[in-house]
Parts: sequence; structure tokens; C-alpha cells
Amino acid sequence: MVNLNELVNPATGMVNRNIYVDREIYEQELEKIFARCWCYLGHESQVPNPGDFVASYIGEDPVLVVRDSRGKIGAFLNTCRHRGMRVCRADEGNAAAFTCTYHGWTYGNDGKLVGVPGYKEYYYEELDMEQWGLVPVAQVDSYKGMIFGTFDANATSLPEYLGDMTFYLDILIDRREGGSEIIGGVHKWIMPCNWKFAAENFGGDGYHFPITHISAFASGARRDQAIRRATGIGTESTQFVVSPGNGHNVMTGVHNGVPPEGPTELFDDYIVQIFPEMEERLGPLRARMSGGVGNIFPNMSFLRGGGSGAHTLRVWHPRGPDKIEVWSWAIVDKKAPPEIKEANRFYCTGSFSPGGIFEMDDAENWVAATQASSGYMGRQQVFNYSMAVGHQRTSEDHPGSLGPSPSEHNQRNLYARWLELMNS
Ligand code: FES
Ligand SMILES: [Fe+2]
Repeated sequence: MVNLNELVNPATGMVNRNIYVDREIYEQELEKIFARCWCYLGHESQVPNPGDFVASYIGEDPVLVVRDSRGKIGAFLNTCRHRGMRVCRADEGNAAAFTCTYHGWTYGNDGKLVGVPGYKEYYYEELDMEQWGLVPVAQVDSYKGMIFGTFDANATSLPEYLGDMTFYLDILIDRREGGSEIIGGVHKWIMPCNWKFAAENFGGDGYHFPITHISAFASGARRDQAIRRATGIGTESTQFVVSPGNGHNVMTGVHNGVPPEGPTELFDDYIVQIFPEMEERLGPLRARMSGGVGNIFPNMSFLRGGGSGAHTLRVWHPRGPDKIEVWSWAIVDKKAPPEIKEANRFYCTGSFSPGGIFEMDDAENWVAATQASSGYMGRQQVFNYSMAVGHQRTSEDHPGSLGPSPSEHNQRNLYARWLELMNS
């Protein structure tokens, strides 16, 4: 077995490239990370009514999230207990029961096996149907509409798992009464890169903004500061990165006034209008913070920042050491007027989607870095995450361990957590 301590050194920030391309290490990640952590499954706004369901994944395992007829949200492995066929083949919908299209076993929306063709004639009523319901995800819980699940029955509770991350997450999902909702369906696409490239980029890589995204900024995808200044919307901000614990990470900042929201006047007017409500709900400090860009360990990222108008949640589903399947959604304030929701959806698609101007910039890097780390010589090299080692600090105002922006403080914390889980 590989000695991971020789490959990953969170103190110095030296990380061997094998952890991004090696099959054996990847298989270990599926077991030690994805099967044990709380993974994001979907949003309650996707399953508002009894019988509503939405497809998801934990690692490579397909999972069906369903609100049963009594209103309780559960999650099950989306695989028939008979011969493994996917029990539900739709992305979303409403159903009282799911009938497998292979031999017809039928499961209730609470996961129980309720129908077996030939139960009398072929099974002689000897099949114990109680024992053959869908395999449940061991624990399912929600945080302000966000549904998470874990295969580990002994895992700590979701509130404990998220910990201080909720301090930052609330800026994104709970700044208005009623919280948030997902709109416009899901974007899905495949990228030939390791999942950690995406997780660490959203969690901590502020270094790449002015280089990677130079053309996106030049095109006006993010509103020019001079234009914003005229509106009274905060233009100066103190940027920092923060690791609230458990491998979670956020890049954020405190603005000198109303934080920027999007690239058009519509967004300016909206944020100015809702700012008092934000102050009331989040307090004067968090109301001025950018919703930020972050990653909930292991593979769920979010972005509400930079004045791009893009507010997105996404999961980087692993599909092998060198492949991910991205599932990405637009998230909006539930109480926002229709024109703001539509603008969010529009700018989300334009900046963070398979054809998004920022997304394509990022993808180029992650794909090429994965490829260039796969060769014989490439695999012997290390990545350098040493930026600002020793420059972390704590703050009374912000829970977690703070680092300067940019720095690789958050990435080092991500790999420290990764190593801890992989070794345990
Ligand atoms: S695989 Fe589902 S009924 Fe046979
Ligand atoms: Fe980026």
C-alpha cells in the first residue's frame, strides 16, 4: 500500500502528483472519503411535494433522493436489489413507487419493496420482501434546504460536520427570509480531470483569478469598479481566505459598503434594496461580506461573488482518478422577484456552466494539469502549495483559520483533512 505521508505534506505544502492520477489512491478515496463524509445530495426546493424525487450521487454510487408520501426526505442507493438495474432512470419527477425496468420489482417512495412479479408463482411466497428494500443512505439531514447524506452510520451529525462553515454558508443561502431555492434545472458535463483540482480551486485558489480569467474580466463579465462606484456599492474590500475546519474552505472579503452583486444595474438596485434585510439577518459584518467562493469537503462547491451575478452550487462527482462529472445549479433568494431570478440564471449560465466564460478558463487548467501529471516523469513531481506558509491567523470576527488572499492556506488545510481521512 502507498504511504500517503510520503506523498502529502500539509505543513510544507508539497503534494506528490500521484494523488491526482493514481488508480489505487482513487479507490481508497471512494472508501475513506466519499463513503464516510457528508456529501451534498440536492436541495429541498427540488423535492417540495410528497413523492418528489431527484437523482444524485455519492462518489460513484447513484443515489435517489425522495420525499416519501408522508413528507419525509430519504435517500437510497439507486440500484435494484435483484440484479442491480437503476431503479429510477429519470433525473427528477414525482412517483408513489419505482418499478425496475429489468424484471419489475417495485419499491415504494420510502424504499420498501412492495411488488415482485411472480411472487406467488415463481418465488412460492418464500421471498422475505421486508429484507429486500432499497439500500438506504445511512444518514440524511438538511441544512437550510441543502440536503446531505452519508453512508457512514457512525459519522458525526451534519451540524457537527459543517461546523463553523455555516457562518460563511449562511451569507450565500440565508440572507433573505425564506432562504434560497434552486432554479432552472441542472447542467451536467464531463471533464477529464481529477476532482481535487476543482475542489481546491473553488476552496482556495484566488491566485489564478487575474491570470486565468484575464479575458473574462476584460470582456466585462464582471462589472467594472468605476461603474459600481457611482452607485454607492462597495468597491474596496479586505480579502482573505478561511478554513473553518473539517476540510471546508472559503475565499471571501469584507466590503466597505453594500457588496457587489452582479454586472448590471438590475443587480445594483436589488442588492441596495435588500441590504437592510441582509444586515438584520446576518449582522452588519456578514452583510458586507461577499458570499464568497468555497468548497464543502469533499466535493461540493459554491460561488456567490465577484459581482458576476453567478450564484451557483455544484458537485464534482468523481468518475475515476482522471475524470469528473459536474452537476451544477443556479441558486437564488427565494423571495427575489422573477426578473432577478432570471438574471441570476442567465449570468450563471454565461459565466459558470459548460459554456460559461469563467468555467471554460478553469477547465482548461484542470484538464491539462491532470494530463501533464499522468506520465512517468510527471508522476514523480510534486505540486507546490507553499504560498504564505506560516502566515495564518485567527480573528475574533471570523471563525476558523484565516490566511492572506491570495495564499495556499486553504489548499494546505484541504490536503491535511484529506490525509487524515485517508490514513484513518
Ligand atoms: S434487476 Fe430489478 S427486477 Fe431484476
Ligand atoms: Fe476560476
